Amino acid sequence: MNIILMGPPGAGKGTQAVLIVEETGVPHVSTGDMFREAVANGTPMGMEAKKYMDAGQLVPDEVTIGIVAERLAQADCARGFLLDGFPRTQRQAEALDRILHDLGRKVDLVLNIEVPTEVLVQRMTGRITCPNCKSVYHLVFQPPQQQGVCDRCGHALQQRSDDTAVETVRKRLEVYEAETSPLVDYYGRQGVLVTIDGQQGRDQVFSAIKAALGRNA
Ligand code: AP5
Ligand code: MG
Repeated sequence: MNIILMGPPGAGKGTQAVLIVEETGVPHVSTGDMFREAVANGTPMGMEAKKYMDAGQLVPDEVTIGIVAERLAQADCARGFLLDGFPRTQRQAEALDRILHDLGRKVDLVLNIEVPTEVLVQRMTGRITCPNCKSVYHLVFQPPQQQGVCDRCGHALQQRSDDTAVETVRKRLEVYEAETSPLVDYYGRQGVLVTIDGQQGRDQVFSAIKAALGRNA
């Protein structure tokens, strides 16, 4: 199944992605994670991307479309994928349609997680993540069992550099409204969109997603 996970920054895409991958076995293709890995490895692309990420801006389309095209052509995506954080602009959505058309594929399902803006700011500023297995926690809403340590793999947890300043978090929300939210209509018109109430607890959100995937909740 070819799935896109949409929703504003902090909606719970990464949190749900870990669960969806466990349930379906499709690979998690997160452009944010790919950029953060490039930053951690100090590659030229990573250094370039970091400037945009730390300012709450989008990395230019040419760069982002290129890395996604390369990733979706890899063998493990042949039986499906879970895109998280892509597409984020009209140009990226059209490029994705072309990439998939060339691979003889199409988007099957777009899960749009909706959460009010006030809640999103709280979620991002309290988030801690595992750079190793990508598990996501929150200091208050979803604390790990042992402070600072990932429950799943035991790696030390980190705060993302784009979550530390409230201005950056607000900028990301503005950019989402301006650039990405119009894609909800784009996929609505294609008849593949399912809206998920992301204000519920993590497990209730996942039950709604399982129902949309046609699996027993
Ligand atoms: P990216 O990494 O994609 O970040 P994002 O879209 O801003 O989304 P987040 O990862 O912040 O939120 P999320 O929805 O995954 O929420 P999470 O599950 O972590 O992008 C980062 C940057 O990379 C961009 O700003 C841009 O610069 C660049 N980039 C990436 N893709 C790009 C593209 N396509 N084009 C151009 N540039 C691109 O949860 C958040 C918090 O809430 C956590 O603490 C979690 O524990 C908590 N939480 C989750 N669910 C619940 C719940 N149900 N109840 C209570 N708390 C919850
Ligand atoms: Mg994420």
